[in-house]
This record gives sequence, structure tokens and C-alpha cells, in this order.
Amino acid sequence: MQKRFLHADQTLFRDVDVFEIDHVPDLFDYREKQLDELAFQIRPALRGGRSLNAVCRGLPGTGKTTSVLRIFTELEQATKKVLPVYVNCQNDRTKYMVYSRIYAKIFGHAPPRTGLSIRSVMDAIGDALQKREISLLVCLDDANLLQYNSTLNDVLNSLLRLHQDYPGVRAGVFAIVSDMDLDLGRELDAWVVSVFRPTMIYFPIYDADEIRGILRERVRVGLYPNVVSPEMLNRIVEQTMETGDVRVGIDLVKRSVMYAEAAGRTAVLKEDVMAAYEQAKHVHLAFTIRSLSAGERRLLRRIAELSREQTEPLTSGAVYAEVKGTLKIGYTAFFKRLCKLDSLRLVTLIRVQSGGRSSEIMLRYEAEKVVEVCG
Ligand SMILES: Nc1ncnc2c1ncn2[C@@H]1O[C@H](COP(=O)(O)OP(=O)(O)O)[C@@H](O)[C@H]1O
Ligand SMILES: [Mg+2]
Repeated sequence: MQKRFLHADQTLFRDVDVFEIDHVPDLFDYREKQLDELAFQIRPALRGGRSLNAVCRGLPGTGKTTSVLRIFTELEQATKKVLPVYVNCQNDRTKYMVYSRIYAKIFGHAPPRTGLSIRSVMDAIGDALQKREISLLVCLDDANLLQYNSTLNDVLNSLLRLHQDYPGVRAGVFAIVSDMDLDLGRELDAWVVSVFRPTMIYFPIYDADEIRGILRERVRVGLYPNVVSPEMLNRIVEQTMETGDVRVGIDLVKRSVMYAEAAGRTAVLKEDVMAAYEQAKHVHLAFTIRSLSAGERRLLRRIAELSREQTEPLTSGAVYAEVKGTLKIGYTAFFKRLCKLDSLRLVTLIRVQSGGRSSEIMLRYEAEKVVEVCG
């Protein structure tokens, strides 16, 4: 008999969708405090006022997006008086695009492609909010991507001052940032800060027990019983902690099970987890790179190219000498960018001279892969 390659009839997945990256889980533990705080900001809007502003801050994979989406879903079910609009700044990077997103949410379709000025879009939004007496709440996810465009000032300022042009209109903003070093108070213009005054809501990284809890729940919902033993789950958690990113863990479970399936087994073995990790670890890389600004991405790419070319360790001084011409930035700004890449666990910075400015830079992924993902 010929070997069969597809075993379409046997699957270990009860529901493969729970391993998709945009799946919003039914059970969402460990974020009660943050959800409470988000809900608290919205309370004034529920009573006819405007929502307080907030900044959600935390490394990638700490549940920021999911938390806001959950609150928004609940809000939509509870009231028509507040209109939550979710804007993903990875896709919508200009003021016009942000307002188009709000327009689409209000009118059910995007503004006509030709001819609507930003003014007309804002007029239509302002009018509708006035007439319908609804309070607007905009989430700018990955808002730091607007910052580097210096668009964030403009977007925040115009949203928070909508009432000046359209009396009675109330708008609040939740900004999500994964950039732990971004000091919004310093980066934003003073006149924006004076109206924004956000509540800071912090999302700490998950520890191993929390990651285990999250993955155990996905396994319970998404797989048939006994496919992942407690021992294998521990191994998966251990591997996940190397990146600290729960998304790697979710992907790792899915891929491990696919390997087991392909081998015709009904349970995941250590070798499946090992093989799956080689792929799953890149989930962290891909997501993190997507949330970088163009300048940061260029720096990372250059670091990857340089570490491919040479065997001795890279130093910050040498890299700076390489990039200052093309990136056109001073050393301090350059070093800040490096620190950001370090805090995102893309590179590791090792101080060599104490007190000195020189550090060694170690790429945390294969240079080849980084160049490829940076594009
Ligand atoms: N507390 C949690 N319980 C269950 N799943 C979670 C939890 N936190 C995060 N996740 C899952 O991890 C992934 C990343 O979460 P996300 O909200 O996108 O993080 P962030 O926006 O901080 O990068 C998503 O697939 C999400 O469903
Ligand atoms: Mg997010």
C-alpha cells in the first residue's frame, strides 16, 4: 500500500481556533486588576460624561490588547451611549487613517475613497457624535508607532479637543504602548499632556505559573484529553519562558500537537516540543519586529548584517560608527534605540566598561532569520 501523507480523518484538535493569534479566550485570568482599572476609566462616560484617558503599558504578550478588546466588547453589550473604537496603529499610521477608522465605526463604512478631506471626515464624526449624543472612546493600540511619525501628538490633540469645534462632544483615549522606555510625558507636546493626563495601567510579564495556567486552559479547550501530559506541559512552559512571550507558548502547543499528529501518535513527546520550538520561537521575533518603528527596524537589520559578517562580538561604538551616516542620529538617541531592542529581548546588551558608554551587543536570534523578517 502507498504511504499516505494526509491523515485528515484523525485529529488531536478539538478546536484548532483557540490557538489562533487573534483568538479572544473565554477565560482570561491574571488581569483582573487591569480590567478593573480600565472599567473605572469608563465609568464617567457611562453616566453621560467623558471617559478618563489611560495608557496601558507592558512588554509584548502581556495581555494589553486582549484586555482592552474584552472591555470594549462588554461595553458594546451594555450600552449604546459609549462608542468604543479600536485602532491598530500597525495598520493605521496616519491621522487620516485613524479618523477613517472612527468614521467607519460610526457610519458602518469607510469614507469614500476620493475627495474627503480630513476636515470633512472630522466634521462628519463631530456631527454624528453631537446628534446621537454618544461618548467616543478610542483605543490606539501600539500608539508608539504613531509617536515616531510624530503623528501621536496631532491625533491625541485633535481627539481630546473635539469638543472645542463640536460642542458637547466627549472623547477619551486609551493608548497602548509596548515600549517600556517611551516616556510619553516627555515625548508629547506640553499642550497635549495638559489635556491627556492619562492613568497609567501597567501590565507585568507573566511568570511561569501564569503561563502554565494560560496554556493549560488552551490545552483543555482546544485538544482532546491526554494529548499533552502535565510533564510535556512543563516542558512547553520552560521553553516559553526563554522568550517570556505567552504567544510563543500558544504556538508551541499547536505545533507540537501537529508534529505528534503527523507522526501518527496520540500524545505529544519531548521531540515534538523540541522540533516545534525551532519554529515557535520566531513568533516572538515576528511580532516584536512588526511593532518596531522604521528606524528601529533598520538598526536591528544592520546589527544582524554586521553579526553575520564578523565573528568577534559587536560593540555599540562600532555599530554606531556604521550606522550614524545612514540613520542620522546622535549617540544618545542611538543608544536609546539599542536599549529598546534589549528590552524587547531582540538583542542582549552587556556593559563592558563600567561607567563607560560601550556595550557588547548580542543578537538573540539567528542573524539570517532577523534579516529575513526585517525585510
Ligand atoms: N491572561 C491571559 N489569559 C489567556 N490568554 C492570554 C492572557 N494574556 C494573553 N493571552 C493571550 O496571549 C496572546 C497575546 O496577548 P495580547 O493581548 O495580544 O498581548 P499584548 O497586546 O500585550 O501584546 C493572545 O493570543 C492572548 O489571547
Ligand atoms: Mg497588543
